[in-house]
Amino acid sequence: MAKILVLNGPNLNMLDQRDKNVYGDSSLAKIEENCKNLAQEIGVEMDFKQSNQEGELIELIQGAVRNYDGIVINAAAYTHTSVAIRDALEIFKKPKVEIHISNIYAREEFRKNSLISDVVTAVVSGFGDYGYQVAIRGIKELIK
Ligand code: DQA
Repeated sequence: MAKILVLNGPNLNMLDQRDKNVYGDSSLAKIEENCKNLAQEIGVEMDFKQSNQEGELIELIQGAVRNYDGIVINAAAYTHTSVAIRDALEIFKKPKVEIHISNIYAREEFRKNSLISDVVTAVVSGFGDYGYQVAIRGIKELIK
């Protein structure tokens, strides 16, 4: 069975207190539950993690090299700033999907630049919290 890591960056733990016009009204706990249900339905083993710390996210990506077949990552604000997360993702040679709840290309200029898009296999952006479902179904196909 394919084993995937769903990784969430800073402030996503506070999703239900962020701008509902941008992020909808889901919470990260609800997203995690939906992801768990989907993973069970389609036969994927999944771990779901969140950190506000750049270094911790990097360590989780490094640890995934040996332990997971794919990574789904919402690097949140670090998407636009972190060369270090980009470099860690480059070390992970298996399928990896970048996901954003919002459409980062329809927002402020600084969000249009992702430092990780060109080192991941696929990008999902703008489907709201349903994007996690798209990313999990998609990465399962990529791992096959
Ligand atoms: C986000 C988009 C980022 O620009 C932002 O910093 C986030 C969330 C999204 O899921 O739409 O925190 O990654």
